[in-house]
Amino acid sequence: MEKARKLFIAGNWKMNKTVAEATDLVKALKRDLAGIRDVDIAVCPPFTALYPVGQLLDNTNIKLGGQDLYWEKFGAFTGEVNAAMLKDVLCTYVIVGHSERRQFFHETNETVNKKTKAALAARLKPIVCVGETLAERESGKTEAVVQEHVLKGLAGLSAEDLAEVTIAYEPVWAIGTGKTATSQQAQEVHAFIRKLLAQLSDAKTAARVRIQYGGSVKPSNAHELMSQPDVDGALVGGASLTARDFVEIIQNVRK
Ligand code: 13P
Repeated sequence: MEKARKLFIAGNWKMNKTVAEATDLVKALKRDLAGIRDVDIAVCPPFTALYPVGQLLDNTNIKLGGQDLYWEKFGAFTGEVNAAMLKDVLCTYVIVGHSERRQFFHETNETVNKKTKAALAARLKPIVCVGETLAERESGKTEAVVQEHVLKGLAGLSAEDLAEVTIAYEPVWAIGTGKTATSQQAQEVHAFIRKLLAQLSDAKTAARVRIQYGGSVKPSNAHELMSQPDVDGALVGGASLTARDFVEIIQNVRK
């Protein structure tokens, strides 16, 4: 598939996988995805599995990401992990502002902004999640919500920094529900996000930023979603937990 930007498929394992399960999965991914260079690939295991998975993935085509970070550099912040710690275990990426963190852990656009800046300062590439709930979509607020997430979450970034960011558009109503946005619904919001990115910086920078779709991505719908001009990859939850599905998603989007 000819795309303006290189596709980027990332697996968000959420709160799943012991060390043994994580290393089994990643060994299978290494075997089945070896040599793929036309798609960027990453996995985001829970914190406890980052170190062993990072060791297995070092110098391979599969990159490592954290699922969250705290913005302070060090100190008395029980339970938190900072950007330098993620770099230390070989992370390239970090997810910021996932809707589950917004919903269950009081993440706000302001904390997303602080975390994004902390990641960039440490040369970690943030994957910043945005997206509306079902109630917001049904009351016609999709664009207003996405606009707040993007403009506030990414406020104050230089064009250079913005070019390092990936946005993941994840409509909350499509996460873990089996309900996928249609490729047209995804494209509409992705194009809107790209316009907002141009407002934040300039058209050239906005054209470089990859916008992933997330929400019930599976082997059967990945190709159709990626066929849209502004859909540059996927942030995959459930289907990234088995090698078979994750590998098949990557194979299908390369067709
Ligand atoms: P599912 O693919 O399980 O719907 O999860 C999407 C997601 O939240 C990825 O971050």
